[in-house]
Amino acid sequence: MQNDNILEMIKIDKVFPGVKALDQVDFMVKRGEVHCLIGANGAGKSTLMKILSGAYKEDGGKIIFDGKQLSWHGTEARRKEGISVIYQELSLFSELTVGENVYINHYPKKGGKIDWKKVYEDTQKLADSLNIRINAKARIADLNIGQRQLTEIMKAIACNAKLIVMDEPSSTLSKNEFQILVQVIQDLKAKGITIIYISHHLEELFLVGDRITVLRDGRFVTCKGTHELDENTLVEYMTGVTMSQGQQEERKLHKVSDEVVLELKDLCNHKVNHVSFQLHKGEVLGLYGLVGSGRTEILQSIFGVVPPSSGEIYLHGKPVTFKCTKDAIQNGIGLAPESRKTQGLVLPLPVWENMSMVALRKFRIGGKLHYKRIFEECNSYKGRLRIKTPDVHTIAGNLSGGNQQKIILAKWMMKDCDILLLDEPTQGIDVAAKAEIYKLIGEMTQMGKSVIVVSSELEELLRICDNIHVMYDGEQVIQVNRAEFSSDYILHASVVGKPSAQAVN
Ligand SMILES: Nc1ncnc2c1ncn2[C@@H]1O[C@H](COP(=O)(O)OP(=O)(O)OP(=O)(O)O)[C@@H](O)[C@H]1O
Ligand SMILES: [Mg+2]
Repeated sequence: MQNDNILEMIKIDKVFPGVKALDQVDFMVKRGEVHCLIGANGAGKSTLMKILSGAYKEDGGKIIFDGKQLSWHGTEARRKEGISVIYQELSLFSELTVGENVYINHYPKKGGKIDWKKVYEDTQKLADSLNIRINAKARIADLNIGQRQLTEIMKAIACNAKLIVMDEPSSTLSKNEFQILVQVIQDLKAKGITIIYISHHLEELFLVGDRITVLRDGRFVTCKGTHELDENTLVEYMTGVTMSQGQQEERKLHKVSDEVVLELKDLCNHKVNHVSFQLHKGEVLGLYGLVGSGRTEILQSIFGVVPPSSGEIYLHGKPVTFKCTKDAIQNGIGLAPESRKTQGLVLPLPVWENMSMVALRKFRIGGKLHYKRIFEECNSYKGRLRIKTPDVHTIAGNLSGGNQQKIILAKWMMKDCDILLLDEPTQGIDVAAKAEIYKLIGEMTQMGKSVIVVSSELEELLRICDNIHVMYDGEQVIQVNRAEFSSDYILHASVVGKPSAQAVN
């Protein structure tokens, strides 16, 4: 029936220079449902949502929301219609409180002044009604990512949103925070609010979604009920390729060399306490733990970003102190950081410059840069990692989120570092490209390189690591080697902060 749709986006077109981002896309959402929107990196999901939110104007097609055809007057007008979009890069003011952020567009007033008492009371009521445990007076800067996300959701509801779009809400959330998000989504649904949910974690779609729309290369592929689909079929719709058996490559139980390439002894910094471990040649070492448990800060101390307050770092048996990242890079260490927009890429530069900037030395022949070889290698990574870009001369800032992440990885893989530090390497990356990244990591270790991976996805670490160290609140809790991997044991340690009784050692 026509009128059970709260949203109808009909034959939407959007062209960017050199890219047809959306080509006659139809997207129909029923009132009160959780509708998942999926597709590989660069498929057009965020663009479609930016058109819905009013951030972009469509080149063709029409949008009917709540029975009314919308014309384009920017994001504020769409918010007033009841459409709120929560982007992955959250837009809260970190120095303000939760309450100040939630009502920022429309503070309740009394006698011409902002009624602060009401701001905080209403915020707290809103939080309680959604079973969100958050203090209305807390400063955003003091909250974790999950709580910030929930604040964004409250802000959307305070604006009377009828439809809330969540663009990859879970990519920065820990398992626990995700559980809370799932509950909040159920509560929103019970209030009659419609949700559009974007994620690359296919298993999540089956937990939260009623229906799924798949986009591929800017085109509508299918829209089906969640119960009619399974993960393999979804991947086929997304990629257009039937998944062959055996694509799930497991890291073999291989003997890691005895040669220690990196050792931390009692390393402390502002976030972590007495961390010690050895990294061997050809080893993939995983750091697991909740967001904020100190994993990133360990990488930062190794890479010379955050100086250790005490303890030692040994590289090939010799103590080292890196004053800056350049020192670390010169010693054969690379770090692909977690926040790509601010740390990993120079957005106004083209793809090839971003990819090759730390590896230029290897392309220098007789004092001159060998551009042909640079472009060849960039193109080879473009192919392997399925980077969706017209060519390597495109400006990196114009690529989709997941494709930017792939460029960062390519950049450090190209550098030929002996030790590569990867912080959440597959965050926001589609399933097909993930498999390729795991394969590349495997190949690097076969060539004698060593890798440390920080990830919030335990599945990922179980698949690619030789050893996993679990962190909790800055402390090292347990170390498990591949032969003893157990997801329950590792999860327990990461949440509770100590090994469970079943501990083997
Ligand atoms: N501002 C822009 N300028 C030029 N091209 C753009 C711009 N924004 C998006 N594109 C291109 O449009 C296509 C769709 O991008 P979009 O961000 O919608 O993908 P996505 O499905 O959200 O991908 P991801 O899963 O990586 O977030 C991509 O090829 C991208 O490079
Ligand atoms: Mg996107």
